[in-house]
Amino acid sequence: MTSRRQVLTQSAAILGAASTGLILPARAQNAKIRVGLMLPYTGTFTQLGVACDNGFRMALEEKGNKLGGREIEYFKVDDESEPAKGVENANKLVQRDKVDVIIGTVHSGVQMGIHKVARETGVLSIIPNAGMHAATRALCAPNVFRTSFTNSQPTRALGKVMVDKGHKKAVWITWKYAAGDEAGEGFKEGYLAAGGTIVKELGLPFPNVEFQALLTEIASIKPDAVACFFSGGGASKFIRDYAAAGLAGKIPLYGSGFLTEGLLDDELAPSAQGIVTTLHYSASLASKRNDAFRLAYAKMFKMQPDVYAVQGYDAGQLLIQGATAVNGDLSNKKALYAAMENAVVDSPRGKWTMSKAHNPVQDIYLRVVKGKENVVQGIAAKALADSGAGCKLG
Ligand code: PHB
Repeated sequence: MTSRRQVLTQSAAILGAASTGLILPARAQNAKIRVGLMLPYTGTFTQLGVACDNGFRMALEEKGNKLGGREIEYFKVDDESEPAKGVENANKLVQRDKVDVIIGTVHSGVQMGIHKVARETGVLSIIPNAGMHAATRALCAPNVFRTSFTNSQPTRALGKVMVDKGHKKAVWITWKYAAGDEAGEGFKEGYLAAGGTIVKELGLPFPNVEFQALLTEIASIKPDAVACFFSGGGASKFIRDYAAAGLAGKIPLYGSGFLTEGLLDDELAPSAQGIVTTLHYSASLASKRNDAFRLAYAKMFKMQPDVYAVQGYDAGQLLIQGATAVNGDLSNKKALYAAMENAVVDSPRGKWTMSKAHNPVQDIYLRVVKGKENVVQGIAAKALADSGAGCKLG
């Protein structure tokens, strides 16, 4: 039997330990960290969602599937790249599954839903792709971090490249939604500053792929070049239709690198030769870090990684750095966020740091399609930071 005296002594010891911070609340100490993955596992961005998921899991796998010493448990929601269900799906993870962190998503419209929930509930949110400006500009938040890009980052450097090649009159074409519009903003800024003129802006609703009428219009306008934002399954269709319309090789095609990323297989590559893009990654980057990452990923998933896999992997790396700094106690938000803000992420794309608004400061590479590769030609923008306009953090 335990005497009253012993009980009192034990309680005092526990209280003492708690006041020195040695004892964590029961859940933080013992329970698994609950990781929510909210990504597109169906629809035109399926390949992107799967790659983010793979990359994230690989980073965790490399650390024995532990975060700051704690086991992890996954919860998964297919967001279908459907903005109308964004809030509901994010709430499933937060309210029903009680996740400690949401890793998601790919589509900017869906991200707005996650972002609303993240701001309202304070849940930690790590964005492995979607580039919506507001998340790291006017609506930035202490609990929201991005390991990818802002939508205007990859296209900002494209305009100068085009003008340097003598392409001064361009048509811009994209899906009409946040990602396409904001990529267009970045392109416009860079292109106009370099002395180019956008003669026509064309668009169609996401994820529509009926490009024919728009391609006929481009043929009749005869611009010096075309620049675009498309991605995933839709990008592949655009490249094929561009070639089938007889435009490939006649009117040079440029884009943010999503246009050709992860898509250059035997079937598509012949239509994609010579396409010039700008992006923060290329499979062909020559570094030990990239080689090791690519080898390990290919072994684990029996497929080749792309920029989305890298961004998912870096989301994992960032969370590991944060969780390690707080010994797995994610409720220690001040220290957690500070560690994530100060993280240097040793990425396959090259090392990068976090801007004050929680978005990567990173190099943007110039790439051209040769064979089945996006061959790196050089750096189009060094250590490019998004403006973070309107963000009051830091
Ligand atoms: C986005 O919706 O933010 C988005 C989607 C696919 C990409 C890039 C950005 O490849």
